[in-house]
Amino acid sequence: MSELDPTAQWVWVPAASTIAREAGARLRDFFAQGVATEYKGDADLVTVADRTAEKLIRERLAEAFPEHGIYGEEGTRDRMEGEFRWYVDPLDGTTNFAHGFPQFCVSMGLEQRQAGLAANDDGTLVAAVIYDPTRDELFVAERGRGALLNGKPIRVTQTRELVESLLATGFPSRKRHENPNIHFYHEFCLRSHGVRRAGSAALDLAYVAAGRLDGFWEFNLNPWDTAAGILLVEEAGGQVTSFSGAHFKLDSREILASNGLIHAELLGFFQDMFAGRNLSPIPTPQEFAARRAAQAAKKL
Ligand code: IPD
Ligand code: CA
Ligand code: CA
Repeated sequence: MSELDPTAQWVWVPAASTIAREAGARLRDFFAQGVATEYKGDADLVTVADRTAEKLIRERLAEAFPEHGIYGEEGTRDRMEGEFRWYVDPLDGTTNFAHGFPQFCVSMGLEQRQAGLAANDDGTLVAAVIYDPTRDELFVAERGRGALLNGKPIRVTQTRELVESLLATGFPSRKRHENPNIHFYHEFCLRSHGVRRAGSAALDLAYVAAGRLDGFWEFNLNPWDTAAGILLVEEAGGQVTSFSGAHFKLDSREILASNGLIHAELLGFFQDMFAGRNLSPIPTPQEFAARRAAQAAKKL
């Protein structure tokens, strides 16, 4: 850690960054050589890279912070009664990774749980590290110390209106037929500059923090997807809530993150959508085909 590193005096980020970089380097190697895909269910993929990275992070965290708990996507549940708990997604963006699409990361968020907290109550998110090994981008935050990308402070955007915003979302890989997000995708595409669906929720959140996106929402996420990204967005000046505007809870699964300035407008549209108000009609493929055929017939 160099003397000039602004995080040198931070509490958890220096060690966690080293671990995320090491795990990211392993992911990069696997990515270069290619890995076989296995199914956890439906279209939910997993690879040897996910498991190897989680094992490495688990071992390294236990060396660096022997008292800390770890809650990892690939099954780690260590020291869950302690004051501190890391939420670890060793590879966020597995579907991208398995297909050779270079958008994935390591995500590690640290929660401090005050004594006496009920199992389903949240503590305070205090540290975040998200590492994108493809671009060698390291996003970090500690509560009250700000958010950085490769050592430089990051801030959310100043965009004031949804109509001028760039948004992102994602779609689940389980129970896909039960998910209504395509309706939200359609509406927000019409009401913004566009909606990206890049396949890594943790990077989407990091991009909101870094001012590359104005907002992000998703149904059905897990704490390992969101813990680090939430703190990054908050420390970069943004806002994170549920779809109803309530304080975000790690197990609430539905997340709405933004630069703060467009948050009320986004929440208003969520209310409208859930109430079935102001929906923009979309032609069915059949209606579209009929219209196209009618136009072709006119030209004859
Ligand atoms: C997935 C990614 C994706 C999101 C899915 C997540 P994984 O995580 O974050 O962007 O849309 O809901 O499950 O499975 O690649 O770690
Ligand atoms: Ca994930
Ligand atoms: Ca994962």
